[in-house]
This record gives sequence, C-alpha cells and structure tokens, in this order.
Amino acid sequence: MARYELVKRSVALITLTNPPVNALSSAVRHAMAKSMEQALNDPKVTAVVICGENGRFCGGADIREFAGPLRGPPLVPLLDAIEAGEKPVVAAIEGVALGGGFELALVCHYCIAHFKVNHFVLKIIKAVGMSRAAKPLSSRRVSMLTTPCPPDLDALLEVVTMEVKKKARGVMAPLACIQAVRAAATMPYSKGIKRESELMATLFNSGQARALQYCFFAQRTAGKWTLPSGAQWNNSKPREIRSAAIIGLGTMGRGIVVSLARVGISVIAVESEKKLLETGKQMVIGMLERDAKRRGVSASLNLLKFTLSLQDLKDVDLVIEAVFEDMALKKRVFQELSKVCRPATLLCTNTSGLDVDALAGVTDRPHLVVGMHFFSPAHVMKLLEVVCGPRSSSETIATAMSLGKRMGKVSVAVGNCPGFVGNRMLKPYMDQATFLLEEGATPEQIDKALEDFGFAMGVFRMSDLAGLDVGWRIRKESGLTGPDVDPKNPPRRRHGRRYCPIPDMVCEQGRFGQKTGRGWYMYDKPGGTNAKPDPLIQNLLEMYRSRYAIQPRNISDQEIIERCLFALANEGFRILEDGIAARPEDIDVIYLFGYGFPRHRGGPMFYASMVGLERVLERLEHYHQAHPDVPHLEPSPLLKKLVACGSPSVQTWREHIKTMHSHL
Ligand code: NAI
Repeated sequence: MARYELVKRSVALITLTNPPVNALSSAVRHAMAKSMEQALNDPKVTAVVICGENGRFCGGADIREFAGPLRGPPLVPLLDAIEAGEKPVVAAIEGVALGGGFELALVCHYCIAHFKVNHFVLKIIKAVGMSRAAKPLSSRRVSMLTTPCPPDLDALLEVVTMEVKKKARGVMAPLACIQAVRAAATMPYSKGIKRESELMATLFNSGQARALQYCFFAQRTAGKWTLPSGAQWNNSKPREIRSAAIIGLGTMGRGIVVSLARVGISVIAVESEKKLLETGKQMVIGMLERDAKRRGVSASLNLLKFTLSLQDLKDVDLVIEAVFEDMALKKRVFQELSKVCRPATLLCTNTSGLDVDALAGVTDRPHLVVGMHFFSPAHVMKLLEVVCGPRSSSETIATAMSLGKRMGKVSVAVGNCPGFVGNRMLKPYMDQATFLLEEGATPEQIDKALEDFGFAMGVFRMSDLAGLDVGWRIRKESGLTGPDVDPKNPPRRRHGRRYCPIPDMVCEQGRFGQKTGRGWYMYDKPGGTNAKPDPLIQNLLEMYRSRYAIQPRNISDQEIIERCLFALANEGFRILEDGIAARPEDIDVIYLFGYGFPRHRGGPMFYASMVGLERVLERLEHYHQAHPDVPHLEPSPLLKKLVACGSPSVQTWREHIKTMHSHL
C-alpha cells in the first residue's frame, strides 16, 4: 500500500502502491502515516521523497470507500503532519496527481513533475541528495504562503460564477470551488481550510455526489457485459482486428473511418458514386489531419484506401455498413458482402434502429453479424451501442466491444429491438414534449425547463441541431403522416394512440432545423447556431390549437420535467423487463454518453430511484389517467413490482429483473 525504503543512506523513499492509480485508500493512508513517522524519527533520514508506483503519482481518494463510514486515519491530519514536519518532503509527480493526490503534492515542500522521464524518481533522489536538506522549510510550507487578493475579487468571482452557472447548470461542486477560492483569498489559512471542509461536507452528503459516484461505477459495469446464454466479458475472447471496411461515407461513415484509423487500423472506405467518394475522401482526410494536429501526432493517412468496389473487401477482418437507413438497401449490401468477404469477416451495421437479426438472416454467417451503433459525430461521441442479435456469437460481441474500447468509446451491449435502448427511449420523451406544445407550452419553455434540469440542450434545440427531416422521413415511411395516411384516421390519432402532427407541419414549411436556418427556432442563417424564438412558430401553435379547439393552459416546469423524464424512465423499465438492457447502469451510461443526460443526476434510471420509485409510479398513474391514449405513460410492470418490493436501490434491481423474461 505504501513501500518504505532508505536510499542513498539518507533519503526516505515512500512509494504509494495501490494499482491502478495509487488511490488514497484507508490502507494507503495508514501505511503513509506509519512511513512518515518512521522517516521523521530516523536521524539518518534528512529528506523524504514521495512517489507513486507504475508512473502514476496518485489518483486521489478511493471512491469505493465513500459508501461506508470512514475507516483508517483521515487524510487532512496526515497532510498537516507532512506539511509541518521538520524534514523536507519532495513530491515526485508522474502521470496523475488528482483530488487528494493533488492535495498531497501541495503539502510537500517541493514538487517536481514530469510527464514521462526515464528513472525520474532516481534523478530526483539524486538531486535531493543533501542539497535541500539543510535549507529552512518555513518559506516552503503552504500554510505560510500569503495569497494575493486582487482588489476587484468580488467582481472577478461574480464573472466566473456566471460562466460556471452557464456551463455547469445546477451542478454544485464548481460553485463550491469558487467559494473555496474566495475563502483562500480572504481568510487566514486555518479559517480557509475550515471553510473548505464545510463546503466539502455539504458536497459529500449531497445527492449529486451519490449520482456522480454511481456514474463512475456504472461506466465500469457497462464494460463487463453479460448475456443470458452465459457468455460474458471474462469468458469470451475477442478477435484481433487489423483491417476494416466502411460502406457509405456520409455523416456517420466519415467519423467511423477517423475513429478506426487513429488507433492504427487500416480502413477501406466504399461509396456508391465517384463524386461522393471524392467528397467523402477529402472530408475524411481533413478530419484526420485536424484531429492529428490537435493531438500532436502525424495523421495516419497511409492506412486509408478509397474505392467504389465491394470486391476490394474480400480480405478485411470486419466491415461496418453505414449506408442510408433503408432496410431493402441494407439487405442488398449484406447479401453482397456475404458473397465477397472471406467467411471469417465480421459484418456490422450502424443502423440507428432497424432489425439487426433481419440483416443477419440474409447473410451466410448470422453468428458474425452484430450492430455497432455509433453516435453523431462518430469520431467525437463516446457512446457505442453494441447490438447483439439472437444469433450473434459471443466472440463477435466480444470483438465489437473490444474494438469500441480500442477506439476510446464507452461500449454498452444491448439487445435487438426497434431503436435498441437509446432511440427507443427517446420516442416517449420527445412525444411528451410535443404533446406539451399542443396543450399550451412553447419550445423555449420546454427547453428551458430541461436545460435548468441540467441537459446541455433541450429537446427542441437538440432536434434543430440533428435535423428535423430525418424523423419526418421515418414517420412518412411508417405511414404516420403524409398522403398515405388513411383519411378516416382522426387527425390527432394514429395506430390507435395519440399522435401530434406539429413536427410534420414544421417540416412541411421547409423548416429542417439549423441547416435550413429555421426549425423550432430561427437562426441568423442556414447553419447558424444562435437559436431565437420564432413568432411564426408561435402563430403556428396558436392556429393549431384553435383548429382543434384546444384551450391552452399554463404548464409548470415541474409537469414538463415529470412528463418528459418519467416517460423516459418508464420506457427504460420496459427495456429492462424485455431484457434489451441487462442492467439499469447500462441504460444510464447510454443516456449519459449518447444523449447529454446530466451526469450529476446519474442517468434516467438512477434519477427515478432518487426521486423515489413510489412517487414516479404515482405521477405516471396520474398522467396516464389524464392522457389514457398515451400508452407510454402507463406504468411498466417492473416499476410496479419494484415499488411492491419496497423500492430497492438501483444496484439491486438486477435481482428482481432476473426473474423476468430476457431476450438479450
Ligand atoms: P448519410 O446519408 O449522411 O450517408 C449515407 C451514405 O451512404 C451516403 O454518402 C451514400 O452515398 C452512401 N451509400 C448509399 N448506398 C450505398 C452503397 N450501396 N454503397 C456505398 N455507399 C452507399 O447517412 P448517415 O447519417 O451517415 O447514416 C448512415 C447510417 O447510420 C444510417 O443507417 C443511420 O440510421 C445511421 N446513423 C445515423 C446517425 C446520424 O446522426 N446521422 C446516428 C447513428 C446512426
């Protein structure tokens, strides 16, 4: 936990040994306290060097210990003892010094840091030798330093506070940090530290801390995928992928090529026409060059090949199809790939919601077919849904999961159903937003409520960014809107349930979002990003309500949040029930990394558990009673079952789900 050595006969070397980041667990703190005591009491020791094993100084507190009561010596008195000690202590910092690890570095009398130097610690010991040992330490103690306090401190902190509030809406910790800085600048050290401890205690006991800790573990849990067949992350071996092919160099294909090439995988990119191939090629090269420049490496252009012929793919290890969202086209591509590629090639699809097993069914290797659902822009967004069909082999799933990890993605294994997890849940959430428009709300009111909740963008701003035409095309193809709709259909009902045609009416006016300069909002120009409320949308809503004799009512922010987010979580419960996601953590990770769900709320399922399942159930029942033609508001059986079991904590839901049927 902490190794003590006497080196060069006079330097005590204390090495933190708690892999992977040498976190300050109770055992580490205990060993450090003992080592420091030994060093300070040993007359031979004239200086102390603290370092971390394996090139990492210290990653801070051990978050696994947060759940229980404090064990072992607390950190602050240990840090005080180091700082007040009569022997110089040097922090030899490599890799990371985060949180408590950074505090440890600060109380040392000297800090020497380097990203990577061979024999770094040895060099420091040599330099420390005796030269520092004799010098007085008073000027080196952090508690003795005076903090310069600028005369305009209040104004300065006010500006910073405004910026932080905008960037980290509703998040407590950054604001507490500003208050701690104010304390440091205006109070003597001992009082400042006391104030900081108070702030820390408030944060530590907050729901936000619990949510953030949950997110940390949920992300790790997602990597440990498991299937009812018994296949799981630790008994399925992934294949090594050296070469890949991407079909379709549109929005998604380009980003996927970049994600693969920058981790050293050679990529063949295929387009359907020469001009599109050339455009796609120029875009990919530009993206890779910008990416390489940003990371200070050279662009791996030599790994790329561009072609119009599928015949060139016969030897690749894996193919990812990213052509238009059109089942007939995708089936043709998969049939073709099945003929061209060698029998061992994995065939993957980036479809956002089509049936992965139907695609597997047209190939000669259904066990080697899996969905790899990237998010836009694919080279930036961290999430990857790995969609496992009933015939996908465990090796295929393991390979897709491991490839995702190699590309720096957070990969989550999910089952095969329309929309998978993320997009399936999005539908009830967006439906509620448009129903609220009908009933009297405005896009800006709904967006503001969601943004105040913590989303980076409300649902209408997000739709404008993504483009409104995509959903419109899907609704037309599904027979929900357009000339094919049965004229006998009541206007605000489709397929036996409530339907809001306002999004279709917006699209009919050529308003496709940011790209056309008009959508739910208006923008300065096509491609503009500065959203302003549009009086034309206001008019459209008023006309719509009067046409259908809807009396608009005042809708509270609370109703907006409850209807949008409880409908979202309710679909999450159904997904768990259906076995499409194995655990609530998987759903939360998908929403955190793919849909901008605020991290300090922990994800939709954790949020529901924090609100209280009983309350979520009661509110859903209430809203379903008011809107019986909206089946998404009808509480799911799993939610009812969990409430009947006394609303257990989210980490134990799995036990209750296990008893239910699973499709994964
Ligand atoms: P896109 O329209 O930007 O690009 C599709 C590309 O495929 C076009 O460049 C087209 O020329 C090419 N293509 C069509 N048929 C082809 C063929 N037979 N051979 C070679 N190339 C062909 O579409 P986008 O947005 O990139 O979507 C692609 C897939 O990714 C779809 O299945 C979509 O649902 C899915 N997806 C899209 C997301 C998005 O935000 N745009 C997010 C996640 C998935």
